[in-house]
Amino acid sequence: MAHQIQYQTMARRGSGARHSVREQGVGSEEHPHPTPQVPTCLAASETDRVREPAPSGPAPEDAPIVRIRGLSYRRGSLVIFEDLDLDIRRGAVTAVMGPSGTGKTTLLKLITGQLQPDAGSIEVDGLEVRRLDKAELCRLRRRMGMLFQANALLTDLSVFDNVAYPLREHTRLSPTLLRKLVLMKLEAVGLRGARDLMPSELSGGMARRVALARAIALDPMMILYDEPFTGQDPISMGMLIQLIRQLNDAVGLTSIVVSHDVRETAGIADYLYVIAQGRIVARGTPAEIAEDRSDWVRQFMDGLPDGPVHFHYPAPPLDQDLRLRGAA
Ligand SMILES: Nc1ncnc2c1ncn2[C@@H]1O[C@H](COP(=O)(O)OP(=O)(O)OP(=O)(O)O)[C@@H](O)[C@H]1O
Ligand SMILES: [Mg+2]
Repeated sequence: MAHQIQYQTMARRGSGARHSVREQGVGSEEHPHPTPQVPTCLAASETDRVREPAPSGPAPEDAPIVRIRGLSYRRGSLVIFEDLDLDIRRGAVTAVMGPSGTGKTTLLKLITGQLQPDAGSIEVDGLEVRRLDKAELCRLRRRMGMLFQANALLTDLSVFDNVAYPLREHTRLSPTLLRKLVLMKLEAVGLRGARDLMPSELSGGMARRVALARAIALDPMMILYDEPFTGQDPISMGMLIQLIRQLNDAVGLTSIVVSHDVRETAGIADYLYVIAQGRIVARGTPAEIAEDRSDWVRQFMDGLPDGPVHFHYPAPPLDQDLRLRGAA
């Protein structure tokens, strides 16, 4: 798995067969696409990208692999991020935590160029994401494995073919080499023996691991995990946690883990960010965060029902809302 291959992009974009998917996967929200969450570039959003020359990468080894400065992003009148600064260190496992609806998934979509910031800069490996044209964004995305909340396995393809899919889409490997690579990826997640199963025959934890094998198929420089433990029993969760750490260290990856599972994630993370209400409320090593006495951090890390995190999504006062409805 440690070896790297010089991949050639196949001129087959758009020719891939359509497959039914279990769940909706990654795609641009501006241009939803039926293709599931695989490292394809068909879903790239083009319309609002600023066309300026992209700076040449890659960045120096000691520079953060992701560098975010002054990021602002809104959804209508809802401010998701306001002047956010955040670094992801190369080779580290960085956890991003925060209450539900605070913008964690949105942050991953901004990093991968599926959404465009209203203001600020997002650099990935020295490249300003908003300045990339479609081909450049495709190349960058192929270097980022994504394991999003939904596995989005292709339901009519076997485990083997699911993992082979990005390799077939993006490389011209011989069948022999492709088979070896797929088996090595499956071995890495402990599922080489399950290669011939169909997704419907997998447990939730196994499906998550197949999705992980597929996410690492193209030997990415970085993997982004969005709630990788959701719906997992404690054993599967424990396995996934170890797997994330082991893959990160064995292959020299960089990992961003978004998760509500505070203690488990903090247990494997080198660095944590806690975000709430559009800003970073805490950052530091797990030990530093454990010592942080601020209300935000304690409410989130200790799972307290009372604290600064609001239960209600922003809304007009209830009596005003009820009066308006009554009058309608
Ligand atoms: N497609 C969309 N259109 C409009 N608003 C959206 C859209 N997607 C997300 N939002 C809003 O953006 C905010 C942040 O959503 P996001 O999914 O990033 O939160 P999150 O931190 O990942 O939450 P969770 O922990 O529940 O997954 C929420 O208020 C949500 O309602
Ligand atoms: Mg989310």
